Amino acid sequence: MTEAILLVGGQGSRLRPLTSHTPKPLLPVAGVPFLAHQLARAAAAGVTRVVFATSYLAGLFEPHFGDGARFGLRLEYETEAEPLGTGGAIRNAARRLRCGPGEPVLVFNGDILSGLDIAALREGHRASGAAVTLHLTRVPDPRAFGLVPTDADGRVLAFLEKPGSPEQIVTDQINAGCYVFTRSVIDRIPVGRAVSVERETFPGLLASGVPVRGVVDDTYWLDLGTPAAFVKGSADLVRGIVSSPALPGPVGDALVLPGARVHPGAALGGGTVVGEGAEIADGSVVEGSVVLPGALIGAGARVRRSVIGRHAVVGTDATLDAVVVGDGAEVGAGNELPSGVRVGCGVRLAPEAVRLSAAPTPCAAPSPFTLSGVPHASSAVPRTRSA
Ligand code: GDD
Ligand code: MG
Repeated sequence: MTEAILLVGGQGSRLRPLTSHTPKPLLPVAGVPFLAHQLARAAAAGVTRVVFATSYLAGLFEPHFGDGARFGLRLEYETEAEPLGTGGAIRNAARRLRCGPGEPVLVFNGDILSGLDIAALREGHRASGAAVTLHLTRVPDPRAFGLVPTDADGRVLAFLEKPGSPEQIVTDQINAGCYVFTRSVIDRIPVGRAVSVERETFPGLLASGVPVRGVVDDTYWLDLGTPAAFVKGSADLVRGIVSSPALPGPVGDALVLPGARVHPGAALGGGTVVGEGAEIADGSVVEGSVVLPGALIGAGARVRRSVIGRHAVVGTDATLDAVVVGDGAEVGAGNELPSGVRVGCGVRLAPEAVRLSAAPTPCAAPSPFTLSGVPHASSAVPRTRSA
């Protein structure tokens, strides 16, 4: 029996408005809730029981995954009344573990797509006798992560979470968000208060001289916490750049889920996924994007590297590049939305409201209202005061 804890209680704030109603780990990535990929990989590595550590929108996980039989796993759910941070969440979820104090427990951040050999990490941990083994990866810009320098034997020398000063950028090795803890180490995390495993537990273990191991692995790795990473992760799964047993179709340039309608005159590519009931109209081009269930892409629209929310509408001839459109929002015809724009859930953007190129039609005459909304004197109805 191998047990694991899955950390899924974060707010996913960098992915708003997509995470306004859906927790980040449940957002569809390559056609299935992201966690389906992580659970399938864990099961393939011999994990048998997984405890979900939930907090934000906690009630939405169990209806999706139930008891886990579908994945060949036994799933349990443990919810924090108040968010307890990563370490507090691990400690809180550990009450559901059944293994003994000397057994290895896998812990996963709930937003990581990776090609890591999970079974090898666990077995290496067992053989090493370390208190904790951390999966590490190398990234060109480590500032948004936990920096983890190691010595030649893989012993962790420091843990620097999201360092603020340039002197702290001592390595390009970062915490990749997958750990093997010896169970007894989890049981020593304080109960009943928020604890950050990155800022408190790991530095504390290092200060007390306990052996902490880092294993640098150079296979595929991505944290899906930002819109750019989210669309990249989905597209990489669809194109088979990283493999997942949970991909609901063949690898290819695009994945169209059952019940979606794609006009033969539309062009899909770059690993685009079109969700159930979504519709892609004639002459549109959709590249490297995630079109969520029930969304509509109008005729002649161009959508690149973007996420289109559930039942959102992209109007005729609109152009979107690296944009996030919230659930139920409507981007009117002819809008040109540049990289980084986020359209809130349910927001309606009038046709041609936002343009980068010159507006195709001249502006209408100005209304008789000033900027402050107070009518011009000439058009204002004179007020009389009755005594
Ligand atoms: N249950 C619970 N409760 N889960 C939480 C809480 C909490 O209070 N806070 C965060 N989580 C979960 C999130 O849902 C996510 O799965 C995981 O913990 C990590 O949180 P993120 O918000 O994604 O953190 P990050 O990406 O900024 O940084 C972490 O991951 C990096 C690798 O991607 C850190 O572990 C870094 O050290 C690491 O490099
Ligand atoms: Mg993250």
